[in-house]
Amino acid sequence: MPIELENVSYVHAPGTPFEAAALEDVSLRIGDGEWVGIMGHTGSGKTTLIQLIAGLLTPMHGRIRLDGQDINDRNYDRSELRRSLGMVFQYPEYQLFETTVEKDVGFGLKHSGLSRSEVKERVKWALETTGFIFEAVRSQPPLALSGGEKRRVAIAGVLAVKPKIMIFDEPIAGLDPLGRESFLQLASRLHQSGTTVIIVSHNADALGEFAQRLVVLDRGRILLDGSTREVFSDVSRMKKLRLGVSAPRQIAAMLSRRGVAVPQDIVGYDELLAALKSRLTGGEQ
Ligand SMILES: Nc1ncnc2c1ncn2[C@@H]1O[C@H](COP(=O)(O)OP(=O)(O)OP(=O)(O)O)[C@@H](O)[C@H]1O
Ligand SMILES: [Mg+2]
Repeated sequence: MPIELENVSYVHAPGTPFEAAALEDVSLRIGDGEWVGIMGHTGSGKTTLIQLIAGLLTPMHGRIRLDGQDINDRNYDRSELRRSLGMVFQYPEYQLFETTVEKDVGFGLKHSGLSRSEVKERVKWALETTGFIFEAVRSQPPLALSGGEKRRVAIAGVLAVKPKIMIFDEPIAGLDPLGRESFLQLASRLHQSGTTVIIVSHNADALGEFAQRLVVLDRGRILLDGSTREVFSDVSRMKKLRLGVSAPRQIAAMLSRRGVAVPQDIVGYDELLAALKSRLTGGEQ
């Protein structure tokens, strides 16, 4: 189910002193199974964009279609949107409120029509997918877990609905390196299983390593939209925009400036390592 935005504009709090034009004339198509990173400075409209896609805001102008259907049409069945699209807000751990982890993760399945045992299976699957041992964690109060664990529980709650599209707003902000790595592995697994993954992040490194496509927002407009390789190809432009590129891409550019020829379409560490190895061994493996 592709997501299509056609000339979408949005203004927050129109007609008040807080009026803010957050998105202007944004057109975008995200196909099935894509992994898209959304970058941009603070206030560039990233959260507004994904809230519009999730149907939490209604555009002033333009259309948003999911699977060809206008999600803001009066006759559109919103339950379809809720089933298909999972949204993990920034710091989702603040939204945990049930008395046990199992209840919290199963909350979104209350009106799903699944039987009790099916719900239990689904909750078990979601918790195991986010790296928990079900029996060890199911009866714990969510608030007794660590910050990183709470965030994984919150993600499990969205995952349990098995949406075809998962949207994350700054999912790795405030996580330690291990938490960051395990989140990116989880997102990788989701992507491999065919889920569309959309991640808003300031972290060029994380996006460079995993996202296939980057959309760069600037003051409510799309400034760049292309494969991660394309978007990171012009390191000085990204530097001027104060957005940066992934560390391996930066190292490749630095090496090239010092006369060490390595490919300039490198975005991840594996590629950088392979290029350096190939140089050291004269191309032998
Ligand atoms: N509820 C609101 N009321 C008024 N203005 C808002 C509201 N939410 C966002 N804005 C404004 O809309 C613009 C876009 O905000 P948005 O939250 O989409 O940016 P963002 O790219 O997600 O920023 P950040 O990286 O800080 O999360 C900003 O100018 C912001 O101040
Ligand atoms: Mg935001």
